[in-house]
Amino acid sequence: MVKELVFNYSYAAPFVRQSEIEMLAPYVAEAHRQLHEKTGPGSSFLGWLDLPQSLDRAELDRIKEAAQRIQDQAEALIVVGIGGSYLGSRAVIAALTHSFYNLLGREKRRTPQIFFAGHAISSKYLRELLEVIGEKDFAVNVISKSGTTTEPAIAFRILRELLKERYGVEGARERIYVTADASSGALRSMAEAEGYTSFVIPRNIGGRYSVLTPVGLLPIAAAGIDLDALLAGAAAAQSWYSRPVLEENGAYQYAALRNIFYRKGKTIEVLVNYEPSLYFLCEWWKQLFGESEGKDQKGIFPASVNFTTDLHSLGQFMQEGTRSIFATTVWVDQAGVDLLVPADAKDSDGLNYLAGRSLSEVNRKAFEGTVLAHTDGGVPNLVVELPELSPYYLGALLYFFQKACALSGYLLGVNPFDQPGVEMYKRNMFALLDKPGFAAQRAELEKRLK
Ligand code: PA5
Repeated sequence: MVKELVFNYSYAAPFVRQSEIEMLAPYVAEAHRQLHEKTGPGSSFLGWLDLPQSLDRAELDRIKEAAQRIQDQAEALIVVGIGGSYLGSRAVIAALTHSFYNLLGREKRRTPQIFFAGHAISSKYLRELLEVIGEKDFAVNVISKSGTTTEPAIAFRILRELLKERYGVEGARERIYVTADASSGALRSMAEAEGYTSFVIPRNIGGRYSVLTPVGLLPIAAAGIDLDALLAGAAAAQSWYSRPVLEENGAYQYAALRNIFYRKGKTIEVLVNYEPSLYFLCEWWKQLFGESEGKDQKGIFPASVNFTTDLHSLGQFMQEGTRSIFATTVWVDQAGVDLLVPADAKDSDGLNYLAGRSLSEVNRKAFEGTVLAHTDGGVPNLVVELPELSPYYLGALLYFFQKACALSGYLLGVNPFDQPGVEMYKRNMFALLDKPGFAAQRAELEKRLK
């Protein structure tokens, strides 16, 4: 039988009274109403809300066909994008493929190596990526909703030239896959003019909520991940987290507790994982919550740690540093195969007390020990538990966080679907680079740099 995700806030009991949670119930109900009736701030960006259940099946088939073509034609796929046009697919692929996916032989891997570009402006990164690509057959999926973002545009220009050099204009066309807005932006115009295979990012879905659109789905499918299972999990979560009542809705409970902690001075939330393959899930989550809530001089700063690795670096600060942190752990019961600690006749390392026990058990005890230590140290701990690390439950988890984030933004009194602050650096960078139309600010900015 399919289990639901478990949102467990029992460890946070010393930091919050049940009555505080109950007092938020009417506000949660109102936020729920605004979300579902599409009357709250940013309501023209709620396309993600029903997406898992309403996704156009014909479009899904096109995505699968394109993924199959990429698998047949390329040894490597380079996914070009940044922010919401990049983090979702990276998170899902990292979570659900082999930890050393790109290093496996093709026979074992079966699907192309997946590389990412256009998420930084680094010559070193791009040059070295091209070195790794070498003579390999490769394809490119360039993703940009605005179609004008500088980082992916630069990477795409370089890769496009390389594709043309290697395969000619027609060959390049066959290896370029565009994911962009339906009609606006340079990328869409280019796709139309050049005849690239292209996919549409629905206008009513913002970047950080777009992982279950072609933005995320094409690279995820090219990596051989079961899209139907991912979407089935998200669709199940859509039902679970549409329940209007706080006590029946784990995503709303999570949002409510975040709000309570924030008002008690816990201004930093640390998302914790105990599984290295969830590193990029945390990066995705940071963008989701950071861009959605950090505005109007408000918001919880989203950070993340990878335990037990970071128990040996940031663990000290979390345990005893400034008391402004609460933690949320994404716990996965089974992340795949398990290893047992072997016995050793000499026991010279003193580890025989663990002989025959699984690494999962040791990891679980590390998690439990940490939660209890944090609680003693004044750090409230919330836990989201997945029965297994599978496409189904990852799909459910993505939806859980999206729904919680939207509701949390409404409880905070911000528009969780815009990102006005992201434009500031761009304007300055364009002026400093002499981009046409930005010259007026240049002199003033340069004076400030000296
Ligand atoms: O969530 C967002 O809206 C942003 O992070 C965008 O996804 C990011 O800036 C990339 O934008 P675009 O897809 O227009 O290139």
